[in-house]
Amino acid sequence: MQNSSESNLTDAVIETFAKTENARLQEIMTALVKHLHAFVREVNLTQDEWFAGIQFLTATGKMCDERRQEFILLSDTLGVSTLKDLINNRKPEGLTEWNILGPFYRAGAPEMALGENIAQNETGEPLLVSGRVLAPNGSPIANALLDVWQSDAEGFYDLQKMDASHMDLRGRFHTNENGEYFFRTIKPSYYPIPDDGPVGKMLRAAGRHPYRPAHIHFQISADGYKALTTELYLNGDPYIDSDAVFGVRSSLVIDLEKRDGVLHAHYDFVMEPVSLEKRENVGAE
Ligand code: BEZ
Ligand code: FE
Repeated sequence: MQNSSESNLTDAVIETFAKTENARLQEIMTALVKHLHAFVREVNLTQDEWFAGIQFLTATGKMCDERRQEFILLSDTLGVSTLKDLINNRKPEGLTEWNILGPFYRAGAPEMALGENIAQNETGEPLLVSGRVLAPNGSPIANALLDVWQSDAEGFYDLQKMDASHMDLRGRFHTNENGEYFFRTIKPSYYPIPDDGPVGKMLRAAGRHPYRPAHIHFQISADGYKALTTELYLNGDPYIDSDAVFGVRSSLVIDLEKRDGVLHAHYDFVMEPVSLEKRENVGAE
């Protein structure tokens, strides 16, 4: 007989996972039950609160489709996505940090020559972005591929517009023989994450705003290096200290400088060699 009580229930539930064949699944389910039970005890969860939680999760699921992933948004706004990224992308000092991919990445952005403008139909304050892609020893990486995307001057991505089939403010560039990249664009704006669903409701209930500070997304790949997903944040943005999804890291904040009347942003990316990653994994075994 189970004879469940406050004191024996957690162990009893954990015990039911004892024969789980997949050892990692067993570890995760055991920790999940342990922490969920501790949470219920800590807050003395009532029937009404438990049901409100069930309704919230149900509404979150109902909001999901192929274009909207409300559960990822929930994970983002609770800091879980960033914590998971930090744990899985620990890097030696000096290498460019990983950052959130976000829901607005699109494969197949147009291939462009260095210097081209990714703002094809959008208007805004012109911005020139430049820098280098480097190895940890500072040597340039030629022919690295930079996949770039950003919001417009009002904070919207092309995907959020009426004619979402048309790509804009996206481009793919290859570094030259000196590891350099440069492209023209417009200054992106801060923007709210989608807040018309349960996650937005949660933010409002907590008195939180839904904004991300202005940023430019990058996915960089080069032979012999680990692919890097990251973002550069514009210094001085009103939300730089309160990103709704906790993505900002000081090493990824860039200053904008006006030269000859045009805004410039400069950033050198330092890639992690595949061999370094392999060596670390061997060390961890
Ligand atoms: C983004 O930066 O595109 C993003 C990241 C997380 C949630 C929503 C948007
Ligand atoms: Fe973004």
